[in-house]
Amino acid sequence: MHKNFGKADGEDDNIAPTYASRLLNHPLPKYELPKSGSEPETIYQLIKDELQLDGNAHMNLATFVTTWMEPSATQLMAETFEKNLVDRDEYPQTAEIEKRCVNILAKLWHAPVDNAFGTSTVGSSEACMLAGMALKWHWQASQEALGRTATKPNLVLGANAQICWEKFCRYWAVEPRFVPLSEGRYHIDADLAAAMCDENTIGVVGILGSTLDGSYEPIQRLSEALDELQSTKGFDIPIHVDAASGGFVAPFLQPDLVWDFRLLRVKSINTPGHKYGMVYPGVGWIIWRHPDDLPKDLIFNVNYLGGNEPTFALNFSKPGNGVIAQYYNFLRLGHEGYYRILKQCQNTALYVSSKVAEMGPFELISDGSELPVFAFKLKDSMDNFSLYDLSSAIREQGWQVPAYTLPASLEQTVVMRIVVKENFSNDMAHLFIDNLREHVTRLSSMQPPSASKGQGSFHH
Ligand SMILES: Cc1ncc(COP(=O)(O)O)c(C=O)c1O
Repeated sequence: MHKNFGKADGEDDNIAPTYASRLLNHPLPKYELPKSGSEPETIYQLIKDELQLDGNAHMNLATFVTTWMEPSATQLMAETFEKNLVDRDEYPQTAEIEKRCVNILAKLWHAPVDNAFGTSTVGSSEACMLAGMALKWHWQASQEALGRTATKPNLVLGANAQICWEKFCRYWAVEPRFVPLSEGRYHIDADLAAAMCDENTIGVVGILGSTLDGSYEPIQRLSEALDELQSTKGFDIPIHVDAASGGFVAPFLQPDLVWDFRLLRVKSINTPGHKYGMVYPGVGWIIWRHPDDLPKDLIFNVNYLGGNEPTFALNFSKPGNGVIAQYYNFLRLGHEGYYRILKQCQNTALYVSSKVAEMGPFELISDGSELPVFAFKLKDSMDNFSLYDLSSAIREQGWQVPAYTLPASLEQTVVMRIVVKENFSNDMAHLFIDNLREHVTRLSSMQPPSASKGQGSFHH
């Protein structure tokens, strides 16, 4: 860790008096608590000004996370900041709303009626940790029941899996077995995954859809491959679906795709509310097919402030307003509203990806027909600029589009990814395409650069 907690050497320790001393007429320390306070308007302006240096969220095509909610939703969230979700006895209605959301999602994902069990989480990462723990505890119990030692658990997942799964494996001492990617296949292969399983496999993770390129992993095929494995080798391996962000997309845009609790092997599903659930950052969801899929000794009965509530969470306190905003979206949009918005996002993604393909130097690796997300790489013949150059160039106009390398075995491949969200309107899409085309024309006419390849790698 940096010796002075992240402060750059030689950096000024103070915030200087600002607006020619009109607002602030004395310096404020930056890295220690000021002796006394200041006026709220002054501090508001000071911090707001500083945050102008951040990227513009409306032009952030990098993130999957919601960057716009409508004013009534924003107001409702602002009015419910004080709700602590763990205080169920004090805020029973917030707890009830969480329950309603869990039920709505369970039905959307075809959970067997009235049995599903679930909870809100802090985004998908917490949900994935909980899912992984349930798989591990479940495996441990079945190994012990068979009189075997349960010391070497492993989890099988595509090399494209999001970093939270690596975290899970490291924190909970589970061996990750990554199914390698190959040129043209940027997510798991069902047969390879099944071949990597053994009696110590706690589960297989299927991803809907992949963070790399927005493609859907073949969950149904994965389930069939694991059925075959069970009939030949006897291993009964559960599937967890990391449905970030497809859990909020597939039920509306691809309702016939079978990926969810319709498959008996799918024991749990997570999704973030803050991606295509269209809520600002901080909320996620996980549902188990049946209470038996969640080992009892993971559940804590919280006896606190007068109530006694079963909980399964990593955090104790957490904000309730994301859950409330999720419920707002459910009622405000309904099935038709989610469909309409997502269809529009998908149309925009297909349109922009087709224009990117027409430009010449690029090859699409996905086009937005699954998640409204697409990724592309440079054609092998293009060597006079890199996608890192292009990413920096369009940043000049404020567009944030990441360039990164693919994971192990394909790390020579650099891609760019665009996530189309609700606030990326047709007008914005046209502006983006024009800006991109200008930079591509300019960069294409340049001499090949000497360096600048190989920065940045896939991380989210
Ligand atoms: C497939 C997948 N799983 C999990 C996560 C982690 O989600 P969160 O950022 O909500 O913790 C992401 C984030 O991009 C993701 O794409």
